[in-house]
Amino acid sequence: MTDWPRLIRDIHDFPRPGVLFKDIMPMLADADAFATVIDALAAPWRDVPIDVVMAIESRGFLFGAPLARALGTGLVPLRKPGKLPGPVLEASYALEYGQDTLQVQAGAVAPGARVLLVDDVLATGGTLLAARELALQLQAEITGASVLMEIAALGARARWDGTPLRAALVV
Ligand code: PRP
Ligand code: MG
Repeated sequence: MTDWPRLIRDIHDFPRPGVLFKDIMPMLADADAFATVIDALAAPWRDVPIDVVMAIESRGFLFGAPLARALGTGLVPLRKPGKLPGPVLEASYALEYGQDTLQVQAGAVAPGARVLLVDDVLATGGTLLAARELALQLQAEITGASVLMEIAALGARARWDGTPLRAALVV
C-alpha cells in the first residue's frame, strides 16, 4: 500500500494566478501508487451493479479506463466539443471565466443503463454535474460518481444529486 497522496503536488498560481493546481502526474508515474489508487477507486463499487463507466475528458480518462477494467464494465468517454462523430448530445457548464461543453454520442448507452461517472478532481462540481446531465439525456440510471480527489471547501457535494459520491481522497 503506497502513500500515494504525497505524490500529488500543490502547484500555486497554475494555470492562472490565484489557482492552486493539484498535479497528479508524479502519482501516475509511480507504478505502486497508480495501482493502489485504482484499487481504492474500485473498492466501493465492487458489489454494485454497473454497466458502464462514463469518464470525463481529459484527466478523467486516466482513471475511468482502468476503473472500467477493474469493475468489468464498458467505457463511454465524455468528450470536449468537436471530437466525437455525431449525432452527439451536449451539456455546457460554467468555468471560472466563461464556459465549457461536454459531448457524448447519442445512443452511447441503452436507456436504463447503470452508469458510474468518473473524474480526477471534484472542485466546483460544474464538470461532474454536466456529465450527470449527459447521462440523464441518454436516459441512463446514475448509480453514482467516483473521483480521485474532492476539494471539500468548494462545496460541490451539497450540489450533487444524492446518489453515492465517492472520493479516494478529500482535501
Ligand atoms: C479539471 C479537472 C476536473 C474539473 C474539476 O478539468 O480535471 O475535470 O477541472 O473542476 P470543477 O469541479 O470545478 O468543474 P479541466 O477541464 O480543467 O482539465 P482536463 O482536461 O485536464 O481534465
Ligand atoms: Mg478534467
